[in-house]
Amino acid sequence: MVKLTYYGHSCVLLDDGRHKVLTDPFLTGNPQASVRAEDVACDYILLSHAHGDHLGDAPEIAKRTGAAIVAIPEVLGACEQRAQGLQGVPMNLGGTVKLPFGKVRMVPALHSSGVAGGIACGFIIYIADKVVYFAGDTALFPYMKLIAEQDAPDYALLPIGDNYTMGPDDAARAAEWLQARHVIPIHYNTWPVIAQDAAHFKAITEAATTAEVHILDPGTSCQLV
Ligand code: NI
Ligand code: MN
Repeated sequence: MVKLTYYGHSCVLLDDGRHKVLTDPFLTGNPQASVRAEDVACDYILLSHAHGDHLGDAPEIAKRTGAAIVAIPEVLGACEQRAQGLQGVPMNLGGTVKLPFGKVRMVPALHSSGVAGGIACGFIIYIADKVVYFAGDTALFPYMKLIAEQDAPDYALLPIGDNYTMGPDDAARAAEWLQARHVIPIHYNTWPVIAQDAAHFKAITEAATTAEVHILDPGTSCQLV
C-alpha cells in the first residue's frame, strides 16, 4: 500500500510504509502548506527544478532528516550552497536510478530551471506496485505520449494553475495523452495568480478521458489504488 499526502502546491509525500519520498518541499512562506518544514519526515526528496516554490526548504529538510536529494546536478549545487554535507543523488534527463523503494526515472519538463545550466524535469516514481508521474512545472508537450507508452503511469500529478505552467484545459489534454487511471491536480490556488476551479478541471478531464480525478485539499491523504 502506498499512501499519498498532499502538503500543498507541488509538495507531495509518498509513503510505502517503509520509505518516505517527498517532492518539491516549498513549505516556509507557502500560504497553503499543511506541514512545517521543521516537522516533515522523509528519506528522499525529489526536486523538479530550482525555483523557490519547488526547491523551497529542501536543503534544510535534507540536513535535518538525512534525506537524500534526487535532482539535476546544477539543482543539487544550489542546495549545497545553502547547506553543507547533503546526501545527493545526481541524475539527468532520461536516466533511471534504483532506490530502496523502487526506482525513479527523470523525464523532461517544458519550463525554466531557476539555476544557470540547469533544466527543469519531471519524475516517474516506481514505488511498491505503483507508477506515479510527478510532472513538476511544465507546459503541455507531446513527450507525455511517450510516458504513456514507456511507463503507463497509474497516477499523474499535473500542474493546473496556468500562468507559470499549463492550465486546466492543457492539463486535461495531458491526462488524455498520459492515459493515467488517476489524476491529481497540483500547483494551483497557492496565490491568486494561479487560482483555479479544481472541480471544473475534474469535470472536463473526466468527460474527455477514463481517468478518475482526485482533488486533495492540502493536508489530506489517499491510498493509491
Ligand atoms: Ni517553476
Ligand atoms: Mn512553480
